[in-house]
Amino acid sequence: MNAVITGVAGYVPDKILTNKDLEKLVDTNDEWIKSRTGIETRHILEDGKGTSYMGAKAVEDLLSKTNTKPEEVDLLICATVTPDHVFPSTANIIGDIVGAKNAWSFDVNAACSGFLYALTTGSQFIETGKYKKVVVVGGDKMSSIIDYTDRTTCVIFGDGAGAVMLEATEENVGIKDSILYSDGAGKKHLFQKSGGSVSPATEETVKNREHFVYQEGQPVFKAAVTGMADVSAEIMEKNNLTSEDVSWLVPHQANLRIIDATARRMGLSTEKVMINIQKYGNTTAATLPLCLADWESQLKKGDNLILSTFGGGFTWGAMFLTWGYDSN
Ligand code: UT7
Repeated sequence: MNAVITGVAGYVPDKILTNKDLEKLVDTNDEWIKSRTGIETRHILEDGKGTSYMGAKAVEDLLSKTNTKPEEVDLLICATVTPDHVFPSTANIIGDIVGAKNAWSFDVNAACSGFLYALTTGSQFIETGKYKKVVVVGGDKMSSIIDYTDRTTCVIFGDGAGAVMLEATEENVGIKDSILYSDGAGKKHLFQKSGGSVSPATEETVKNREHFVYQEGQPVFKAAVTGMADVSAEIMEKNNLTSEDVSWLVPHQANLRIIDATARRMGLSTEKVMINIQKYGNTTAATLPLCLADWESQLKKGDNLILSTFGGGFTWGAMFLTWGYDSN
């Protein structure tokens, strides 16, 4: 029994933050941002709404597209680093909004690799035959933890969410393999200093701006290029795939240069690479499902996809799957 994606949906908020807008906030410019990252715009969720709002929008669309009643969902997993609250989980809240009354639900925190971790986790429950319908969401309101006075991070991130439906199939399609890694030694280069149990919020932590993303760009960039390219090549070799066999690379959208390096290592031309970083920036756990949603109409049953990520933790990994349907 294989777990196969039977539907996908994405949601980004209407409000757009352009490179020109950022020029007014910090000492940066459109040319620097475009040439170093590939980003032109990102979408920003309004104050007072959280990640569950975007996740629920994506799941509602997903249920409608797949003709699924909310009560039919067995399990709902949400990958995020920007949960609505420390607890309960954002997955619990999304389940309540969409009416998934019979599903149990939980969050996965693996930063930018969260969606791949959650998809791998969800697929196990389908493959064992335990459940029939598993919804996997990736969503982040990165604007809630971004310091808009720090030019090294505020130009990169955006808000969004995406969701997929996993169901069982006996056909030769679906999730074939995944390779996942983590290395907590990477924490020092990319993390949020305060707000967790080791350093709860105080006046001091707020004054020192410790509730925002802290990132040392260069070491993360180097680790990301190596990690994403290596694991993508590794999953191809393990499954005897040549670049001809791969229809699409679905890469985490952190930096166009990291995506290019990964595609080069896999021997793929840019036409086979899903790239939407210019529109959304880095939406952390949402990048992969937003790519699938944007490209859904071009995907054909039998297409071989490699999903590939790298993020905070460090966490990284790749998945090989065969697409299961032609979109109408
Ligand atoms: O998804 C989670 C994982 N995260 C990533 O994968 C991000 C990985 N890192 C990166 O993508 C890149 O390192 C960045 C986009 C964050 C930075 O690009 P870079 O080419 O590595 O730049 P840099 O940090 O080496 O900085 C080069 C220069 C510096 O100035 P000096 O010291 O050479 O005078 C920076 O201060 O660019 C400066 N700089 C900027 N200039 C204009 C940094 N940010 C900006 C900015 N606008 N926004």
